[in-house]
Amino acid sequence: MLGIGGSNTAEWITEQSLLASSTGKPWGAGLMAWVLEVSLDPLRQVLEHGPSFICVSFGDPGPAAALAHQAGALVGMQVGNAAELDRALQSDIDVVICRGSEGGGHGRNEVSTLPLLQLALRSTGKPVVAAGGIATAQGVAAVLGAGASAAWIGTRFAAATESMSHGNIKQAIGSAGIDDTVYTRAFDIAQRIAWPVEYGGRALRNHFSDTWAGNIEGLRRHVREGDELTESIERARVVADPDNAPVYAGQSAGLSTTGHDAATIIAELAGFRGLLSRAAHRWDNS
Ligand SMILES: Cc1cc2nc3c(=O)[nH]c(=O)nc-3n(C[C@H](O)[C@H](O)[C@H](O)COP(=O)(O)O)c2cc1C
Repeated sequence: MLGIGGSNTAEWITEQSLLASSTGKPWGAGLMAWVLEVSLDPLRQVLEHGPSFICVSFGDPGPAAALAHQAGALVGMQVGNAAELDRALQSDIDVVICRGSEGGGHGRNEVSTLPLLQLALRSTGKPVVAAGGIATAQGVAAVLGAGASAAWIGTRFAAATESMSHGNIKQAIGSAGIDDTVYTRAFDIAQRIAWPVEYGGRALRNHFSDTWAGNIEGLRRHVREGDELTESIERARVVADPDNAPVYAGQSAGLSTTGHDAATIIAELAGFRGLLSRAAHRWDNS
């Protein structure tokens, strides 16, 4: 999956799409509905390269879903509470991704993965994917055992060798514990990024979040009064200073390590098969 943010250029989308399609494997892209409300162009650009899957989250997926379907892609939507689940089920969505509040990056902080997954599985016959807090073969076994069609994993791969993040950032994720994250809008407010208020982000707790996450009004005032904070967080991003830059990661940062490539991680996650079969034998009544 390519994560296409609000500030990615057409050149970047083309370059990354070509890279993804050159693998000859199924690939897709995740886009933000609230960005596509302004213009569907980023979606049009990625669709030119024939992705098999488009995920539209964080707002009304309708117009984007229609365009993606016209281009022959399947469409998914990440949902973070019961109302969003209803919205996905009433929209033309092929795959529902239950994204719990444990997850890294932007989303809701309302319901965790398992309750959302259980609600979705009893509400629809469509494929349901579980996201948020899954990082090991045990986690994959848990959600597949419950009936999910797939596990959707972000944080664990954010620390992989192929991840384009700076080494400092990967190191910070790899050395964090499961209780070292914070859910906050502070980083977006400081960077003047207009995420809708219901979508904060889960990131590693650091000096910046310790200073501002509990004082959002003070932060807003500070940002209104001048550019100093916006510039300092931008500098922190450029030099990959994990104490002050946003390091988006979920609670499973505490289960993630650096120095492994994606293939090694996938091979380890595939251990879910043995776990499921052992569990089936253990709990078999007959
Ligand atoms: C560094 C990072 C960047 C992310 N970027 C995007 C994105 O661009 N679009 C999107 O829909 N989700 C994005 N996500 C969220 C993931 O799609 C997913 O919901 C989440 O990572 C799952 O939880 P986990 O982090 O516990 O594995 C991102 C997550 C992380 C950690």
